[in-house]
Amino acid sequence: ARRTIEKGRALHKRTAELFFQCLREDSRGLQGRDYLHRRGVSDSVAVAFGLGFAPQQWDFLTERLLREGYSTEELEQFGLALRRAGGEGHYDRFRNRLIFPIFDGQGRPIAFGGRVLGDEMPKYLNSPETPLYKKGQHLYGLHKAGPFIREKGMAILVEGYMDVITCHQHGVTQAVATLGTALTIEQGRLLLRYGSSVLICYDGDRAGTAATIKAGRILTELGAKVKVLHLQEAKDPDEFLQSQGASKLWQAIDKAPTYIEYRYKQAHAQQNLNSVEGKVATIRELAPDLLSIPSAVEQEANVQWLAKQVGISDSSIIEELRSLSHSRP
Ligand code: UTP
Ligand code: MN
Ligand code: MN
Ligand code: MN
Ligand code: MN
Repeated sequence: ARRTIEKGRALHKRTAELFFQCLREDSRGLQGRDYLHRRGVSDSVAVAFGLGFAPQQWDFLTERLLREGYSTEELEQFGLALRRAGGEGHYDRFRNRLIFPIFDGQGRPIAFGGRVLGDEMPKYLNSPETPLYKKGQHLYGLHKAGPFIREKGMAILVEGYMDVITCHQHGVTQAVATLGTALTIEQGRLLLRYGSSVLICYDGDRAGTAATIKAGRILTELGAKVKVLHLQEAKDPDEFLQSQGASKLWQAIDKAPTYIEYRYKQAHAQQNLNSVEGKVATIRELAPDLLSIPSAVEQEANVQWLAKQVGISDSSIIEELRSLSHSRP
């Protein structure tokens, strides 16, 4: 098992180099360089994140790596090559895509994501889970953002590769991404080793909103101070930064509500708080979030705050929470 891991590390290091060289030096990488330029990604940040290019070729990687002594089994095991259906031989998983290496905490590549240059589907193709890469255990960009999160005490959680990269380019250096999936408890714990506050800044669409609620609850449960920045002027932090710049983003971050305030605003927009039903529905909507606060003191402070907003006594909210926590599955 140890040998497999070592081999996988060497394989990913070499693969990252080959994709990197293709983007930077190969004529086949020109369209990747043009693409990055169109999206406003600077050379220095592209280099810092080790971005690369996989040309439109079935065996760019496979042919090269077999020559260098790797086996097809190894390439397959680490998700870099796929076996031809019903036949002999293998072909490259990543073709004609811009490559984003995914690094471990020490900055070693352990997986890859590849983006199409147009609007073909799927937009991104990622390495599968391998002996080196367990999706839910890593955060994209943490090897760069870690020291800044420590220094500033706050992490910024975003959805995608480009969000992290554009954030870093604009000096928002504490950004890390869950890469489109829901935040796991393991990722939450990992993040909280660097700082106790997290600002969630997912995409402004429905999927982003749903993922915000889940991530907020997990982080709250882990004892984090959570804030939410819901972008309205742009669809994600990358687009926001490209169109409005970093100082506008910092202004919005300064005004971002806490997770509970954000959840209250959402409920408020849906319920009529002048009616008893509206009050009850709002309290029920927020109950899982309030119940997930581990500190009794903080829970009480939030209950008091909610009581004031809804215009109901603390004790009836506590009563309602009690009955809900007992009836929870
Ligand atoms: P988004 O759809 O928000 O894409 O998915 P994006 O990051 O804004 O990408 P650009 O700006 O169009 O390039 C967020 C993240 O979800 C994962 C990727 O990690 C992506 O960055 N994802 C998305 C996939 O893995 N596969 C997909 O097909 C789409
Ligand atoms: Mn330029
Ligand atoms: Mn999205
Ligand atoms: Mn985007
Ligand atoms: Mn997005």
